[in-house]
Amino acid sequence: MTPADADDGTGRGQLWHGRFDVAPAEALVEFTGSLGYDQRLLPDDVACSKAHVRGLHRAGLLDEDELAALLGGLDSVEMEFRAGELRFEPSDEDVHTAIERRVTELVGPVGGKIHTGRSRNDQVATAFRHHVVGQLAATADLVLGLVDVLTDRADASLEQGPGGGPVRLPGYTHLQRAQPVLLAHHLMAHAWALLRDVDRLADCRRRVDVSPLGAGALAGTSLPIDPDATAADAGFPARFENSLDATSDRDFVVESLFVLCTIGLHLSRMGEEVVLWTSDEFAFAVLDDTYATGSSMMPQKKNPDVAELARGKAGRLIGDLTGFLATMKSLPLAYNRDLQEDKEPLFDALDTVRLGLLAMRGLYSTITFRPERMAEAADSPYAAATDLAELLVTDGVPFRAAHGIVGALVRRSLDEGIPLVDLVAAEPELGERGAALLAPGAGTANRRSPGGGGPGPVEAQRIRLAERIAAERQRWAATRPDGA
Ligand code: ARG
Repeated sequence: MTPADADDGTGRGQLWHGRFDVAPAEALVEFTGSLGYDQRLLPDDVACSKAHVRGLHRAGLLDEDELAALLGGLDSVEMEFRAGELRFEPSDEDVHTAIERRVTELVGPVGGKIHTGRSRNDQVATAFRHHVVGQLAATADLVLGLVDVLTDRADASLEQGPGGGPVRLPGYTHLQRAQPVLLAHHLMAHAWALLRDVDRLADCRRRVDVSPLGAGALAGTSLPIDPDATAADAGFPARFENSLDATSDRDFVVESLFVLCTIGLHLSRMGEEVVLWTSDEFAFAVLDDTYATGSSMMPQKKNPDVAELARGKAGRLIGDLTGFLATMKSLPLAYNRDLQEDKEPLFDALDTVRLGLLAMRGLYSTITFRPERMAEAADSPYAAATDLAELLVTDGVPFRAAHGIVGALVRRSLDEGIPLVDLVAAEPELGERGAALLAPGAGTANRRSPGGGGPGPVEAQRIRLAERIAAERQRWAATRPDGA
């Protein structure tokens, strides 16, 4: 294809062919094209292009008919795309090229006015930001959905324990049994971590939601456009301040990747826990058949593949983040084609996190906990050691001395095979009051400090958690929905 062939007035051929004598090499086209993955930006690019076109009209650069033709052309392209009927051409380097080419086919030479006062450098950053804003909102919604499941399970667990009381299980440090806590406390620990993610998503979104449109290739334009007005028209609360920064900044991608990566990290920790809890060794939980897999060889196996992939995919998310950080490092101002590498990692991270959140929500809403097994593990008398030491403290014994006294009893019990409760009962400073603390559930029930794992603090915590969830929902309801 020569430039003369390409420049047939329909916009066919590379947008930039005018300066060249010959068509680009096939290897260049294949290596540099991004249409395969950036076409998911099409609805966002159309929305922002419509704002741009209306801005050109306000600036007196398009008359009424031209405005109507371009808006109609853009709508048609989006309709064709959504219907799966938009055909791409080999010369469509990216989604922006494809849209301009198709609009021009549909509306004629006036299509050649759509790119007035704009470069793909500000265009791509605008469409991408527009897309990411919607995706962050969709992600927040999914995270809150998982939080809901965790709080539902936490609430139910308050009556599913031994004797209709709260389910308790060992709390662990170093993966060694430490002090018993309520299962509700444990589940809410995950909920709080996920709520921080929702907060991070909102904070990140504030910086993503800035329009670069009007920055041009790097330096703005001599034409009388109004970037404030086009930003508002496209739904952005603010516009860029510096055209060089606007076209070269991808902090919004880095930040979004980090937030998604952190969600993935939380899912991986939850996943690891499910792997442990569903093992025969722990046997704290049983997966529902709809969220378990089998083995192709061993008929007896029931595997926690969802939980394992929640764990495993964190690695890929970390790769998305660190890979893109490496891409950005040392790039000179302003636009460089390297920046095109921003999309695949972020799309991958958004997809991975979306699917992970949905799968973990399903897993957690169907998993069966085994309160009797949890209680058995929680009720080891040794788990009450700290409570015994604290009983001595209330009688005025310095904590370090109390620690020594109880530690010695534990050692004697283990060494001599005497039940700890007998040694405690026989110890003058502890006696029956101490022995009572070794009764199943007594230690947990006794724990009263705010934010801790006993029933009173857990009830108070649940109220604060509900308030935070409601506040997040309210905050996100006020944002524009996905893709709008
Ligand atoms: N597909 C390109 C990207 O994602 C669009 C911008 C191209 N700009 C350019 N000067 N070649 O970054």
